[in-house]
Amino acid sequence: MSAYQVEGGNTNSDWWWWEHKEGTPCLEPSGDACDFYHRYGADIALQGDLGYNAFRFGIEWARIEPAEGEFSRAALDHYRRMLAACREHGIVPILTFHHFTLPMWLHQQGGFRSPRFPEQFERYCDRAAAALGDLIGYACTINEPQGLGLSGYVLGINPPGRKGDVEGAGLATENLLEAHRRGAAAIRQRAKVPVGICLAIPDLQYEDGALPGDSGFELESAINDRYFELARDDDFIGVQTYTRFRFGPEGPRGPGHVWSDLSRELSETDETTQMGYEYYPKALGGAIRRAWKSTGGIPILVTESGIATAADSKRISFIDAAMRETRACIAEGIDVRSYVYWSLMDNFEWAFGYKPTFGLIEVDRKTLARRPRPSAYWLGDVARAGTLPATRGGTGGA
Ligand code: BGC
Repeated sequence: MSAYQVEGGNTNSDWWWWEHKEGTPCLEPSGDACDFYHRYGADIALQGDLGYNAFRFGIEWARIEPAEGEFSRAALDHYRRMLAACREHGIVPILTFHHFTLPMWLHQQGGFRSPRFPEQFERYCDRAAAALGDLIGYACTINEPQGLGLSGYVLGINPPGRKGDVEGAGLATENLLEAHRRGAAAIRQRAKVPVGICLAIPDLQYEDGALPGDSGFELESAINDRYFELARDDDFIGVQTYTRFRFGPEGPRGPGHVWSDLSRELSETDETTQMGYEYYPKALGGAIRRAWKSTGGIPILVTESGIATAADSKRISFIDAAMRETRACIAEGIDVRSYVYWSLMDNFEWAFGYKPTFGLIEVDRKTLARRPRPSAYWLGDVARAGTLPATRGGTGGA
């Protein structure tokens, strides 16, 4: 989970501003989210009871550094308590330092495109790692940086919401690469924990005759290649994937959309998920193999794999199939060290608001009560056993 999507009340972040701004694609504001900021104790204990042994979550820069150069002891202590709760329950914390959101003061200075962003990120990483390092299991610098330039500056679908600013997107992209380099070094220096970056790696499949340059993913892939190069100096790479995208001579091949369409009702079918993606859990294998090859074989953590669905038994089949694919990769000699499902609970899915349900745990939107779904127990049994059951779990999915 990321901090912003579950904590609630992150009023000092650029996404809060974006959600409340007139004319953005956001369907609803995040509000209290899952109130994880206050309920983390029970949520972490529940994971222990379920049998989970790893938990990926994020810290919010806007809380830790609410004004430029002013660090909050209280916020850092809060995150220390969260990490300590994981340790108490035998859970290894995988901590993300940056997951899409920026403090408002940095947004006002130009955000990712500001020339000072890399050095400011380095300082934030240094301070957070100094305060939290002894409790962290694995540290992720930035979540899915490769699309942030395009979405925020060219497409205008994320903050700062600029359209057609190709120069801004280029500056943001270069700054994010530099920020990862500097942030990783700062964390490694302070905390002596394994550090890596989490990348969105869709399984891109080109059929014979597909026209290169036609998929819309070329730029993102080129940026990913630069992160793969940087990752050779890292301790692991975080692999995140949700589906495949196929291309034939006539362009994209269905089922499923190449990009999620916000205006659309979430109509899930046997072949597609609530996000409009093709149901294709095997995509994880393609992503793992690509990351392994492109980084010259650094250890892999699967940091996100998941499905937005209203049918929980389909979630079980999805996880079962994705894990079997991971197991096949391990059998091929690839060093995969974790499988982390996205997400522990239903949460704020950015511009889509609370419509898509990714959670192992259902969250009642009125009372915020948690209700573990059958998939939550199924995954706990797998974690406890340390292996998949002989028979495939769940039903549904094409
Ligand atoms: C992001 C998450 C998001 C998930 C599901 C990932 O790309 O890291 O923040 O909720 O996809 O769409």
